[in-house]
Amino acid sequence: MKLGTPLSDTAVRVMLLGAGELGKEVAIELQRLGVEVIAVDRYPNAPAMQVAHRSHVIPMTDPQVLNGVILAEAPHIIVPEIEAIATEVLAQIEAAGLARVVPTARAVQLTMNREGIRRLAAEELGLPTSPYAFAGSSRELMEAAHTIGLPVFVKPVMSSSGKGQSVIDALEDAGNAWAYAQSSGRVETTRVIVEGRIDFDYEITLLTVRSRGVDGQTRTDFCAPIGHRQISGDYVESWQPQAMSEAALATSQDIAGRVTEALGGWGVFGVELFVKGDQVWFSEVSPRPHDTGLVTLATQTMSEFALHARAILGLPVDVSQREVGASAVIYGGMEAVGIAYEGVAEALAVQTADLRLFGKPESFERRRMGVATALGATTDEARSRATEAAGKVRPVRG
Ligand SMILES: Nc1ncnc2c1ncn2[C@@H]1O[C@H](COP(=O)(O)OP(=O)(O)O)[C@@H](O)[C@H]1O
Ligand SMILES: [Mg+2]
Repeated sequence: MKLGTPLSDTAVRVMLLGAGELGKEVAIELQRLGVEVIAVDRYPNAPAMQVAHRSHVIPMTDPQVLNGVILAEAPHIIVPEIEAIATEVLAQIEAAGLARVVPTARAVQLTMNREGIRRLAAEELGLPTSPYAFAGSSRELMEAAHTIGLPVFVKPVMSSSGKGQSVIDALEDAGNAWAYAQSSGRVETTRVIVEGRIDFDYEITLLTVRSRGVDGQTRTDFCAPIGHRQISGDYVESWQPQAMSEAALATSQDIAGRVTEALGGWGVFGVELFVKGDQVWFSEVSPRPHDTGLVTLATQTMSEFALHARAILGLPVDVSQREVGASAVIYGGMEAVGIAYEGVAEALAVQTADLRLFGKPESFERRRMGVATALGATTDEARSRATEAAGKVRPVRG
């Protein structure tokens, strides 16, 4: 692919569908290569809009509106950053050859629905996963929980970041879990996945990059494994590398290679895996940079965002890790518009610490507003520094 001059006839135009903090970093990397960036999201002044050439505020789940914006902007490449998108439009645009969808429209469609990706991974590819069943009513949920064996995780098939998820330890909680899933799913889908709990030692994100090799063939590279800690389905800290046995790492790479090959296309994938000893289970995959991979801003020669930008443009990538590091999330801690941040100097005075404040216009109690990163001789040292730095940042009302 030839690169051009933004805002001219030679421009390479990339449209981000979803303009959050991950898209913001991708936009910055694309800007550095002189790519014209168009950011789209459902609310104004979203993080990536603040660093894009143009932006549009639309309901991305509305096929007509989405199609209209794509036709008007005529991007060469479309990069979905979130899952709540009218993906049938992407499939049509791709089929008509109007733009390339990253990594592929099919990958975006399969991964936006837990049922699509789970059936692909477990039933078509035969990858090890937690025992699971799908349920379309409270009664089916209870039956599934009974068959699988308690405790079980209940997740709306159309949801992310822990929304609508619960764990049930007793069959009489099935009704509540069902109601909770209905109230918090992305769409009124009424379908959930019920998963048996995997008693893992630790969980990882294996960032997997599919890119164009110098020989023109697609190649697959793996970043060093990222360990992370989740609370209620949302990541609170991550570190790289996660120590693993050689066998567990080899199995993880094999699983990640197979699932990303089945999804196809070029770009970064965040493959989530559970590990116990040498045993590995596939959990889920994002066909885009992963939130736990924010740590790579500090640790890798090329962050996951730089890797994504390079890969989608058909350029070579370097997945090497330079430093041992960690990231810790900064939450809004309040409901307010246009908040301010105190303690930034103190946070940055923590040895090796760095910060990203995403610039989100509105804060919620548990909204991720920023992240702190830090390095260390060990991941434990990096984690304590990152957590210390994140803790020094105090969101306050304006
Ligand atoms: N079957 C399971 N066994 C054990 N832990 C699980 C299971 N499913 C989910 N979890 C925990 O919940 C977290 C969020 O679940 P996940 O399926 O990744 O949802 P999301 O799409 O919201 O990230 C996981 O990272 C893991 O910590
Ligand atoms: Mg997840």
